[in-house]
Amino acid sequence: AIPSFTLNTGYKMPSMGIGCWMGTPGGGEVVEKMCKDALAAGYRHLDTAYGYANEEYVGKAISESGVPRADIFLTTKLPNQHHHKVHASFEESLAKLGVDYVDLYLMHWPQAYTEDNTPVPHDQSPTFVETWRDMEALLKTGKVRSIGVSNFSVKLLEVLLRETSVIPATNQVECHPCLPSFELKSWCEEKGVLITAYSPLGRPKEYDGKPVFLQDPDVISIAQSHGATPGQVALSWGVQRGTIVIPKSENPERIKQNIALLTLTDEEMATLDAIHKKPGMHRSLLRYHEYSADGTVLGWTYEQLG
Ligand code: A2P
Repeated sequence: AIPSFTLNTGYKMPSMGIGCWMGTPGGGEVVEKMCKDALAAGYRHLDTAYGYANEEYVGKAISESGVPRADIFLTTKLPNQHHHKVHASFEESLAKLGVDYVDLYLMHWPQAYTEDNTPVPHDQSPTFVETWRDMEALLKTGKVRSIGVSNFSVKLLEVLLRETSVIPATNQVECHPCLPSFELKSWCEEKGVLITAYSPLGRPKEYDGKPVFLQDPDVISIAQSHGATPGQVALSWGVQRGTIVIPKSENPERIKQNIALLTLTDEEMATLDAIHKKPGMHRSLLRYHEYSADGTVLGWTYEQLG
């Protein structure tokens, strides 16, 4: 069985889930099949978002899977364009998912956009602090069990914790051996915020669109010694260091493979902890700067590696 972690709300969250971002919005029937395959394979945690534009299909997979809703941990997220209407957007997500509660509702990004997709400067309403207060109010409806954030740096979390009262249950960020984010992780651990790692297998870099560290000789040799794949090594490292991993896979074999977690030795964990220090291995921060469209906002402080 997949181990669970306990959130600061007391609810349990399976340490492995299926991520429903398909690279572009939508995915429709592919997402539905992926979720059904995952539930059949033993996954009990599905991670989607309003912005993924596939909540209906995730919901359909849940209702047709035969797995009781109560056994599934379901996450969805508030889109940037809806920060000014948290309640309405949340209700829309519930309706699309066809459920009467979600386990976890996340602020997808720490910045509001207008409905026509222009970034709202950080000092203008709705600030992420105001948005979070509206999310806090959702807890009282009983339709959401835990609330959290996504793509928040330490700097932004410090503001959030200073200005508001509910500590996020999780911070969902890109995290994998090439972007281990030790500093963010230990800060979050200290405050009781669990890290959920998206793209836990890495992101295509220059290597032919494939996650680059999966071809690293050390990763391959660890995999071989367990009779497993590099993907399993990366995911097991993620869970063993105390983060929740949500790899996307629409491939039935990889869906099954990915939940078969390994027990890595301390030495193997140390090797993986250091993989990002190899030349060319650490993830470039450039991508994050692209998101701060007006140049004043996000304050990305993903770990600087040198
Ligand atoms: P596929 O769906 O064909 O399995 P994300 O970064 O959003 O989590 O996406 C993970 C990417 O890695 C997907 O393109 C997925 O493709 C691929 N993938 C999933 N599982 C594995 C694995 N065990 N080994 C290698 N690639 C994988």
